Amino acid sequence: MAHPIFRLAARLLNWPLTVLVRPYPRLNAIAWDLQYALGLWRYLDRGRDPVPLALAQQVTDRPRILDLGCGTTVNLALPADGYRHYHGVDISRTAIRRARSLRRPNTSFEVADLVTYQSTARYDAVLLREVMYYLTPQDAVTVLRRAAGMLDPGGRVLIWLYDGTAAVAAVLSRLRECGLTVHAELPDGDTGERVVLVLGADDPAHSRQP
Ligand SMILES: C[S@@+](CC[C@H](N)C(=O)[O-])C[C@H]1O[C@@H](n2cnc3c(N)ncnc32)[C@H](O)[C@@H]1O
Repeated sequence: MAHPIFRLAARLLNWPLTVLVRPYPRLNAIAWDLQYALGLWRYLDRGRDPVPLALAQQVTDRPRILDLGCGTTVNLALPADGYRHYHGVDISRTAIRRARSLRRPNTSFEVADLVTYQSTARYDAVLLREVMYYLTPQDAVTVLRRAAGMLDPGGRVLIWLYDGTAAVAAVLSRLRECGLTVHAELPDGDTGERVVLVLGADDPAHSRQP
């Protein structure tokens, strides 16, 4: 959980960053590298969260996972026999360097801007953990639809968001209405402050039911 000061700073900075920095990918990358270099996101690296892998394993035992805006990935529990392949994408070279340094088996990483990121690879689960609010609402919907296009049948897009603010509520309602089926909306963590949205196409097995 972020220190309240960080969360307040993040909220205050969100508007100027969105307007002045995010439209320019190189500037945006520098801003994120700087934040990582200053240690602003170090608190995220405490602990290993088992929930992302557990949700991906609901699709298949050893899922192929794409993690968009993956950060350093230090906070992800990824036991070697729990996934087939993990691919992490982030705009920050600093975060990706740290992720690579973990040398986990069957992983690959890429520095790229999600707004324009395309891939022909197919996945069982695409993770978007705490990243949607750094995109404009329009870009968030585009990224989500593109992510859904990278799923194999039965695959899921899993989105983590902090709940509670009006801005997050607005992002949530746009994501809910973007044409994908909402399979689940789960509170996550002890405080219930985080919400996980599980999205995907309609499953044939479900749509056959009356
Ligand atoms: C709050 S951090 C979350 C990191 C990680 N997903 C986690 O939950 O620990 C947001 C991440 O999104 C990345 N990010 C923000 N905008 C991005 C963009 N346009 N393209 C790719 N990555 C982006 C940042 O570099 C950062 O690593």
